[in-house]
Amino acid sequence: MKNDIIIAIDGYSSTGKSTLAKQIAKALNYIYIDTGAMYRAVTFYALKNNLISPKHFNKTQLIKDLDNIDIDFKYNPEKGFAEVYLNGKNIESEIRKMQVSNFVSDIAAIPEVRQKLVAQQRQIGQKKGVVMDGRDIGSVVFPDAELKIFMTADPNIRAQRRYQELKNKGLDINLQEVLDNVKKRDKIDSERSTSPLIQTPDAIKIDNSNLTRKQQYEMVLNLAKQKIETNKTASSKN
Ligand code: DC
Repeated sequence: MKNDIIIAIDGYSSTGKSTLAKQIAKALNYIYIDTGAMYRAVTFYALKNNLISPKHFNKTQLIKDLDNIDIDFKYNPEKGFAEVYLNGKNIESEIRKMQVSNFVSDIAAIPEVRQKLVAQQRQIGQKKGVVMDGRDIGSVVFPDAELKIFMTADPNIRAQRRYQELKNKGLDINLQEVLDNVKKRDKIDSERSTSPLIQTPDAIKIDNSNLTRKQQYEMVLNLAKQKIETNKTASSKN
């Protein structure tokens, strides 16, 4: 619709970006896109094709293979969000496993991978009415997004939340491993040379260490409604 906006939700891993983004998209009847799932899908491809392991990384082959990597989202009405598909196969649950988490930041640091995924993300957001979460949505993918949120929280709290989430899914996991992964990803994501995780000056920072999901949801939904209103007023003047 004419007054729809783009909502960019960036921030550190395990800050609850996707939970919030899903809630906001649902409330506004917007499309929700989890861009982390796209980087995870490429990582899953690399693992399946033996292109990456703790001992080796065949970056050249992965870059060559990019044209054969087709990532798609399909809405699952039972779950209430769009699941990610790799070359026609639903890989939503596979990409959440620790093995993928352990390599995804290395994959996401490759400029050619980012170029491909950013182009697809821009295509999806062309008509606006989208909530996208990731690391570079407000800084690179949609620098003109009407609403930019930057999420952060204490690493120990994030690891605890992630640990609980993975345990609830029945995965065999230990807290220290999750904490190490959270810290490692913070470091790689913030220090990589291509599109590092940064808070842009126009992004609104939310530290949710001590916020409930409801509080943060209401806060961001109000901000979104204000921006939509401003957008409406601006376009009625034009
Ligand atoms: O949001 P997530 O934890 O599922 O993201 C997985 C990884 O992908 C994360 O470590 C950084 C990377 N990523 C990125 O570099 N840019 C994005 N827009 C989204 C994710």
